[in-house]
Amino acid sequence: MPPATDDVVAALAALHAEIEACTRCELHETRSRAVPGEGDPASDLMFVGEAPGYHEDQQGRPFVGQAGKLLEQLLAGIGLTRQQVFIANVLKSRPPNNRDPRPDEIAACQPYLWRQIELIRPKVICTLGNHATKLLTGNPAGITRVHGHPQAAEIGGVKLYLYPIFHPAAALYTPAMLTTLKEDFLRLPELLAHAAPGAEQPAAERPAWRPPERRLEPAPPAEPAQPELAAAGGDPVPAAPTVPAVPLEPTPAGPIAATADDPATADPDDPPSPAAPGKAEQLGLF
Ligand code: URA
Repeated sequence: MPPATDDVVAALAALHAEIEACTRCELHETRSRAVPGEGDPASDLMFVGEAPGYHEDQQGRPFVGQAGKLLEQLLAGIGLTRQQVFIANVLKSRPPNNRDPRPDEIAACQPYLWRQIELIRPKVICTLGNHATKLLTGNPAGITRVHGHPQAAEIGGVKLYLYPIFHPAAALYTPAMLTTLKEDFLRLPELLAHAAPGAEQPAAERPAWRPPERRLEPAPPAEPAQPELAAAGGDPVPAAPTVPAVPLEPTPAGPIAATADDPATADPDDPPSPAAPGKAEQLGLF
């Protein structure tokens, strides 16, 4: 993968400076720092989460808390580091008390994400959880229904695959969701291999990607947590020290099972707020 051109790097830096000074919605009044996103601007793979949490707001960097550690472990399981992908969020500023993003906030922030996609031109975007999935697919179907099912899409003039998966923050506290997240994650290399060679051919014209029908080899053990994250006050990830130990059974292609509920994203790092409990608490995830 060739490095990003100087023009792209400069345009992304200018965009991120604009985001850091943004006052398009009320969140600028309560945030500590905006969190534009970070990673390799030439990466084929982009992750889009929901919104910064407590630690992200403090550091101005995405996914640096417990959910970020799990994301790094999942990446290590497929032989990637966070520096090799690009990580962003739907909202670039933290909603107070980790509440859900509001529609007006999503609308105000959306042009930033679209511009990032235009500049980075990823081949696959992993949407983490409900908010990113609904925004980028343009479909109200929740993550429980659509996770693990790649969808060809065109965003900001870029033809790519959207690959919805559970949000790591939600999976931290729900073992079944964590197992599914690991399984879905292990299919990413195959999707990337499918998406990358045909870059000349529009993704929307390529045959639909299907989950593999063979058992995948487990990937090597995950790297230990990064020291700077521990130094920054991140707690150890409670129940997911290693990621790739889930052998994959063949996944039947077919209709997506409907389920009643879509888990939202908890931010396990946010200090509890008696006045306004976090979403995970409201959903009984803790
Ligand atoms: N959750 C998110 O959705 N984004 C982050 O950056 C951190 C936690």
